[in-house]
Amino acid sequence: MASTRAFITGGNTGIGFESAKVLCQKGYDVTIGCRDDTRAANAVRAIKEGQPDAKIESVRLDLADLSSVAECYKTLSKQNKLDFDVLLNNAGVMACPKMTTKDGFEYQLGTNHLGHFALTNLLLPHLKEANKPVRIINVSSKGHQFGKMDFDDLFRDKPGAYGPLEAYGQSKRANILFTYELARRLEAEKQTQITVNTLHPGVITTELGRHITGGRWYMNWLIKAASYIFWFKTPAQGAETQLYLATSPDVANVTGKYFDNCKEVKSDGPTYDKEIAKKLWEVSEELVMPKIKALL
Ligand SMILES: NC(=O)c1ccc[n+]([C@@H]2O[C@H](COP(=O)([O-])OP(=O)(O)OC[C@H]3O[C@@H](n4cnc5c(N)ncnc54)[C@H](OP(=O)(O)O)[C@@H]3O)[C@@H](O)[C@H]2O)c1
Repeated sequence: MASTRAFITGGNTGIGFESAKVLCQKGYDVTIGCRDDTRAANAVRAIKEGQPDAKIESVRLDLADLSSVAECYKTLSKQNKLDFDVLLNNAGVMACPKMTTKDGFEYQLGTNHLGHFALTNLLLPHLKEANKPVRIINVSSKGHQFGKMDFDDLFRDKPGAYGPLEAYGQSKRANILFTYELARRLEAEKQTQITVNTLHPGVITTELGRHITGGRWYMNWLIKAASYIFWFKTPAQGAETQLYLATSPDVANVTGKYFDNCKEVKSDGPTYDKEIAKKLWEVSEELVMPKIKALL
């Protein structure tokens, strides 16, 4: 019998790593897409140490570089591994200083949204062709509430326009808009076997705050103290909602929804604006698809 395959972006640490571990325990054949070969190898080794029979491997994927997204796709294609049952778009960066991806996109929107948009659109034809149930999960954040889409200055290039947290919020809003628009497009194509959902995983002690702490000992200490006071989730607890969306029979036919604590909840009002979602899709398509197709 063919194994159940999952692809997890950024599965080498944080909630992506926890998700990889649990999916291996459940017998999935897991591929993690990681930008750092050493960190990827360490993650694969750590999972195999705990589960010698785990089917886990890594492929290089830097979402902040479209040529790397194209290379990742080509590698998966050569391995005949494009028909995933679960695509967990989990990787993310938060609150970086103003910087750009290899392709000149604002770094957080470029990594968190545009890289995943490109990867998903490359895989989609194969997921459709597979003609089986597929679950796409886009990890967003409650932080989407403090970012808005500014199509006149998407990369916040105007003087004084860039705020690290606001740009993170915009990228996480984009994850939700992308999810809702993709669900509508799949529905219009009668692709009822492919579902796509999004979520807030909670506030979790992971490495996501690295740009805020800057590696400073007192900032690390402060975050640790806050994690006890405010009951931050552990990575294992933080992975629960995406694992629920990836595996639970309860959500096998649910699509185009936003979840928190394994429950469907409402996202911020304007995320339901179909015109904004359509525009984001079109802008994203124009930014990434011609370039990535030329790289294949
Ligand atoms: N932690 C929270 O409280 C929280 C709250 C809400 C939402 N989230 C969301 O949860 C998701 C996972 O975050 P986390 O908390 O587990 O953070 P994390 O521990 O920092 O893990 C993030 C993962 O993304 C990878 N990544 C970053 N940039 C990448 C790139 N350009 N290409 C490929 N992979 C890249 C990282 O790789 P490296 O190890 O190489 O850096 C790492 O594997 C993110 O989407 C985040 O926005 C987290």
